[in-house]
Amino acid sequence: MSAVITATGLWTPPESISNEELVASYNSYADKWNSEQAEAIAAGTAQALTHSSPEFIEKASGIKSRYVVSKEPLLDINIMAPHIPARGNDDLSLMAEIASHAGRDALTRAGRSAKDVDAVIVACSNLQRAYPAISIEVQNELGAGGFAFDMNVACASATFGIETARGLIASGQAKSVLVINPEICTGHINFKDRDGHFIFGDVATAVLIEHESRADDRGWNIIGSKLVTEFSNNIRNNFGYLNVCAPEDDGLNAKGLTDKLFRQRGRSVFKEVVPMVANLISDELANMGIEKSKIKRMWLHQANLNMNTLITKKVLGKDVDMVYAPVVLDEYANTSSAGSIIAFHKYSDDIAAGETALICAFGAGYSAGLVVLEKR
Ligand code: COA
Repeated sequence: MSAVITATGLWTPPESISNEELVASYNSYADKWNSEQAEAIAAGTAQALTHSSPEFIEKASGIKSRYVVSKEPLLDINIMAPHIPARGNDDLSLMAEIASHAGRDALTRAGRSAKDVDAVIVACSNLQRAYPAISIEVQNELGAGGFAFDMNVACASATFGIETARGLIASGQAKSVLVINPEICTGHINFKDRDGHFIFGDVATAVLIEHESRADDRGWNIIGSKLVTEFSNNIRNNFGYLNVCAPEDDGLNAKGLTDKLFRQRGRSVFKEVVPMVANLISDELANMGIEKSKIKRMWLHQANLNMNTLITKKVLGKDVDMVYAPVVLDEYANTSSAGSIIAFHKYSDDIAAGETALICAFGAGYSAGLVVLEKR
């Protein structure tokens, strides 16, 4: 019994922030902090903050801009965070709203109605609340049937979601599964942290996976998949409901930065995740008996351009033009679980029927998911 990806969907926030705008805001904050702390800095009890730079950001990561759900407060040095007003319990939550936009886009592209869908999975890095599940709110908003649940496997969530959908279709639980990745990543960044303030953006993507009996000759057969995880503390977010049970924990680390936001040891992540992902792809293609040269495209997680260049080189044994592993980082930055799906959504039309390609997403946990596709 085969599962087929019949369509993808994308919702992009209307506002974006360039590296230059973001850096100007950070540098003003740093100047203000330094002048307020001038005495402590002179006495050697505090360290002056150094400026961020657009050139560093682009060279180190490939990021030039990012879309955001709330621009102005994020750039305001007295706020430096998105402002997302609380909504009433009877109003649609922001996360369900953007997830529904992406879900509707996928359904429209597939020529399906929400009534055709019998499972909704919201798979993403940060869920707006614990329950009721965001996915059930989306199921209700779209008018889908069946059942829904949320899952979180950080940046690998979309691939774990697609594999879960394939399993639900294979077991007969569902015939049409909408996997949605709403990512409001700006809500978990410390915009006062020079090492990480530039990394993430906001977006929502969706993938419609259906039983092959429902698919026409379009779309992608899922011909293989492999999931791996390996514990690491190098990417961490300690935010959680038990935080309120530990009032003595003020959430501040030695640098005066909250540890309830995104933190990483970027260099270690780079060094450890590149071989993990290159091996995952190489080993699974070998298991499936697929020659690497037969892979026409890789839609990789979008965290760092240099990382993707290196993974591609390790898998293929040679440098290739990045048209082969399309990059959306420049425009979108890291959008966690949504990144590889944006690349797939935007850069897949030219793959011919019968050709093979793959989606591979990876990140915190560590976690990595591979989905191998054949164009119908
Ligand atoms: N502007 C200017 N300089 C900066 C800077 C900024 N915003 N941030 C850091 N620097 C400086 C550092 O202070 C350091 O200076 P030093 O050499 O004088 O000590 C230098 O630039 C290099 O810093 P480093 O942190 O080692 O940079 P890097 O080349 O490793 O790039 C990342 C940083 C985060 C872009 C990169 O490590 C990365 O993307 N790693 C993978 C992350 C990943 O995939 N995470 C998954 C998240 S889901």
